Amino acid sequence: TTRSYIQGTGSYLPKTIVTNEDLSKTLDTSDEWIVSRTGISQRHIAGDNESTSDMAEHAARLAIADAGLTPDAIDLIIVATTTPTHIFPSCASGLQKRLGTQVCPAFDVQAVCSGFIYALDIADKYIKTNQAKHALVVGSETMSKILNWSDRNTCVLFGDGAGAVVLSASESEEGLISSKLYADGAFKELLWVPNGVSYQHSDERIDDYIQMSGSEVFKVAVSKLRDLVEQVTAGTDYGSHQIDKLVPHQANIRIIKAVAEKLHLPMEKVVSTVALHANTSAASIPLALDCAVKAKQIKRGDLLFMEAFGGGFTWGGALLRF
Ligand code: ACO
Repeated sequence: TTRSYIQGTGSYLPKTIVTNEDLSKTLDTSDEWIVSRTGISQRHIAGDNESTSDMAEHAARLAIADAGLTPDAIDLIIVATTTPTHIFPSCASGLQKRLGTQVCPAFDVQAVCSGFIYALDIADKYIKTNQAKHALVVGSETMSKILNWSDRNTCVLFGDGAGAVVLSASESEEGLISSKLYADGAFKELLWVPNGVSYQHSDERIDDYIQMSGSEVFKVAVSKLRDLVEQVTAGTDYGSHQIDKLVPHQANIRIIKAVAEKLHLPMEKVVSTVALHANTSAASIPLALDCAVKAKQIKRGDLLFMEAFGGGFTWGGALLRF
């Protein structure tokens, strides 16, 4: 039987770094507040002319090269993003042209911070049904462009960046073992951008930007993520004690620690980039994965558990042999 595995990884961060100290010059906040509540010290912010597609392309090229492939091998492109370059066409179809891949299915997936897990789950299903051999799965976000930079409740939490993997078909690799996706739309107003293409919540500029009830999001996130490992490992030969590395969505170090505690994983087994990248939404997992692989924190053969929670609410997890 055909299975999917991660053949290569890549990532990209914009050059400009904004520290907590920088933010405290224009906002009523402090490095101490931000670090103690979130674990975030700095974030990378895209330039005015740097788009989600530009960052996706950088990360994708590195992932394809890391897989030992050239772009013509790619036969499926999925980009997870909440901040697409255009309303349409999709970032994924733009990436097809930029990379010069063969003509193939290419589409964006919108599940906010859970977007990469959603995209990975979909790509795995294409591969298992022999409809793709080398899927390019990207998370890329310019969250900075949908932030109200005078709202200290939200703007300190997010950053920009991109991560990518090449998910390939194999008859011998164990690869992706199990993945589960969830959504519950009842919570939409706890974390959202009120104004949209077909709906105007109000004429206020703030309704064009992210709004969040932080402490309520926090509680639901922790409770859903704590249940997730049982849901993802159910029906597999694995339990949480076998996980070598947790690669969580990087929203908040306290959420990450709460999940690690539930899994009885010491922090040495947890990949954490939130201090340096902040919350890059759909980009955070592939970005953290690539950083950990390049730092030799993750090696071939490791059993990885990836999990994410985000607006919608959406959440999901994946168990895989790297
Ligand atoms: N600097 C200083 N003070 C601030 C700041 C800031 N940047 N932001 C908020 N505050 C103030 C608030 O105004 C509030 O003041 P008030 O009580 O006078 O009204 C107070 O701090 C709130 O403090 P706490 O209740 O201690 O905040 P909490 O411990 O809940 O931390 C946080 C807030 C960091 C937002 C937390 O709730 C959180 O991380 N929630 C999860 C949200 C999240 O990660 N969302 C991302 C998308 S979903 C996801 O990816 C998981």
